[in-house]
Amino acid sequence: MTDKELCRMAESAAEAAYNPYSRFAVGAALLCSDGSVYTGCNIENASFTPTVCAERVAVFKAVSDGKRDFVKIAIAGGKNGRLDGICPPCGVCRQVLSEFCKCDFKVLLAFCGGHKIYTLGELLPVSFEFAGE
Ligand code: THU
Repeated sequence: MTDKELCRMAESAAEAAYNPYSRFAVGAALLCSDGSVYTGCNIENASFTPTVCAERVAVFKAVSDGKRDFVKIAIAGGKNGRLDGICPPCGVCRQVLSEFCKCDFKVLLAFCGGHKIYTLGELLPVSFEFAGE
């Protein structure tokens, strides 16, 4: 699965966004080490706080299917379905990714047929880690 292919999957996933409040559509495509891909879109709620981001939908779909080993994620998003700028993951999604992915995990931010490449370590250099017993 090339970076470009994963980005196109993220763009397609954004088409399913349920976003009547913000009109901001986001799609994510998460590649697992076994080659499977889990997609997600943002799902909003009238009460706002229950809204879930596309990235977390993709991660939670994968984890609930028994997958925990991830290679890279592609993210695409924009207002009114226009995917013309990068859509960096929010802080909560960065923390969720850090639960399962190492610092060198690739985060592809798709835009206008191209993409920028970051690592999770660049996006979240100091993640919270539970230090309990
Ligand atoms: N959103 C995502 O899906 N991922 C992010 O990383 C940032 C924001 C969604 C949530 C909400 O439905 C809309 O974008 C506007 O914030």
